[in-house]
Amino acid sequence: MEGLPGLRIAPSLLSADFARLGEEVQRVVASGADVIHVDVMDNHYVPNLTFGPVVCKAIRPHTEAPIDVHLMVKPVDALVPMFAEAGADIISFHPEASEHVDRTLTLIREHGCRAGLVLNPAAPLNWLDHVMGRLDMILLMSVNPGFGGQAFIPETLRKAREVRARIEAHKAAGGNDIWLEIDGGVKPANIAEIARAGVDTFVAGSAIFGAPDPDGFYRNVIGDMRRALDGAHIERRAA
Ligand code: DX5
Ligand code: ZN
Repeated sequence: MEGLPGLRIAPSLLSADFARLGEEVQRVVASGADVIHVDVMDNHYVPNLTFGPVVCKAIRPHTEAPIDVHLMVKPVDALVPMFAEAGADIISFHPEASEHVDRTLTLIREHGCRAGLVLNPAAPLNWLDHVMGRLDMILLMSVNPGFGGQAFIPETLRKAREVRARIEAHKAAGGNDIWLEIDGGVKPANIAEIARAGVDTFVAGSAIFGAPDPDGFYRNVIGDMRRALDGAHIERRAA
């Protein structure tokens, strides 16, 4: 299933079977996933604890799909080289968790990874004002970070439209393309509406891993998402 160009489905391993992570990665990719989203939580920036770089390194041989490391940690910088070394392709972090946001973005690219900034539901867009040229991805949280299975916050759609306009304006002025990712409460029933708001990369944890096919793969739920995206009418406009 090819789907519209540039629309990516990114299962979050947070809801996978942690005892069989390699297999879970292979199964979602074989079922049509484009990106593997890895939620790194430190029980400090968020009240939960998940994966370190060794787990990223362990799943790396199981797929050629990009590994998208979402750092919910504070401080950030020391972990950047470790995840780069462990095979991450994209590393994103929350600006409130870094003393020097511009420096952290530069550090991520210096380590050969694509750099992302993550905005919580209440975080203002002016975090983006002076760093657009250093970004490869903007991740909008559509839930508060820390846990899977929460409800999508509808206000995020308006925010996504504004960010999409900023990205198109940035490109029109000669800037690089920037992925717009959304994370939290994404499911087949709302993915088309989210795409119409300008999002191109869709993280989904519980919706995917909570809906295995009888053979243990995820073709039905990922197929439902892809069909919903194919049916969405998507416009891209500069501000
Ligand atoms: C939450 C994580 C998400 C989470 C999404 O802090 O960043 O990636 O896994 O889970 P769902 O899709 O269940 O909302
Ligand atoms: Zn995430």
